Amino acid sequence: MEKVRVALIGAGGMANRVHYPSLATFDDVELVGLCDVVPDKLEATAEKFEIAKTFSCYKAMIEETKPDAVYALMPPHVLFDVAMDIMDADCNLFIEKPPAVTTHQTLCLGKKAEDKGLITSVGWQRRYHPLVHHCFEEVKKVGEPHQVVTHFLKPSNVGPNYPYYRGAIDIMHCDAIHAVDALRYYCGLSDVKAVASDVRNLDSWYPLTFNAIVSFENGCVGILHVNWRTGKRAFNFEFHAAGASAYIDADGVGEVTVSSEKEPVVNTTFSEFVDSDEGFMNQGFREENRAFIDAVKSGKQLHNNLQDAVKSMDLVDKIYANSITG
Ligand SMILES: NC(=O)c1ccc[n+]([C@@H]2O[C@H](COP(=O)([O-])OP(=O)(O)OC[C@H]3O[C@@H](n4cnc5c(N)ncnc54)[C@H](O)[C@@H]3O)[C@@H](O)[C@H]2O)c1
Repeated sequence: MEKVRVALIGAGGMANRVHYPSLATFDDVELVGLCDVVPDKLEATAEKFEIAKTFSCYKAMIEETKPDAVYALMPPHVLFDVAMDIMDADCNLFIEKPPAVTTHQTLCLGKKAEDKGLITSVGWQRRYHPLVHHCFEEVKKVGEPHQVVTHFLKPSNVGPNYPYYRGAIDIMHCDAIHAVDALRYYCGLSDVKAVASDVRNLDSWYPLTFNAIVSFENGCVGILHVNWRTGKRAFNFEFHAAGASAYIDADGVGEVTVSSEKEPVVNTTFSEFVDSDEGFMNQGFREENRAFIDAVKSGKQLHNNLQDAVKSMDLVDKIYANSITG
């Protein structure tokens, strides 16, 4: 396969900001069609990325363009049927997070991918964040991390309307799951042994702060700190191994200190590290798209496939189920 034929569903925010700009940088990708149900968005996006064929029906697009892979970038509560149809048409699939509204839906999507032998990718870009990943590798040179912290804050307001899609999906499964998935990934994707958690509403009518200690079978402990009722937005990481520690602000500075060295072995910002102020370059989106295209070419499964995403959804369920605060 010299060029991967990619068809695109969705001309919205994530498509235009990060995924199609990433694909546009690859010489071995041909954008064979674009579909959206909103004509203005469809036309503007097709023009921006020079996509000749446009469609209002994704089934017609797949039938006509016969792609190797399809991107489906739309809200999670309308994604399930689209993702199933794409895989039933034997196309490899890229979707954003969350993979579905429930763990059960994710399990069914994962089984379909498995049965069909398809390559799938769920957009957990923090697994591919260049600076975070580099700091992780520097710590691992010294020793296996035995403690990982993920820290995700958003300063949301509380009102009569639920913050995500009128309540079609909760904060934790929809968005804070980034921190849960990253915790699993940087703890080595080991199976979960035990979870202790604290889930609270504070002054809200729905849960919006989530703290958890997750013990993994490989001996690593993950500490999750999620709060949607704060004074600032932040996504930070800590990785600790015997003799090495990393403190990283995904939108700021990453520093790795090794006990045998006087100076930090890494001290740089997320944008300096990749020499780019473009979000799709410095936040891991280009890397995750590159990994998907490479996997489609090689036929080798990704660590962030749909089958693995079931485990991140399941860990969110366990964080709710084990809350000491009820
Ligand atoms: N990884 C991240 O950090 C991150 C950040 C924001 C959003 N997201 C996720 O990305 C996904 C997409 O979010 P977005 O903000 O880009 O959405 P969006 O609403 O901006 O765009 C979705 C587009 O899909 C189109 N669409 C919906 N159903 C369709 C159908 N059946 N056929 C064709 N087109 C259809 C809509 O018309 C719209 O243009 C969501 O799952 C969201 O959770 C991820």
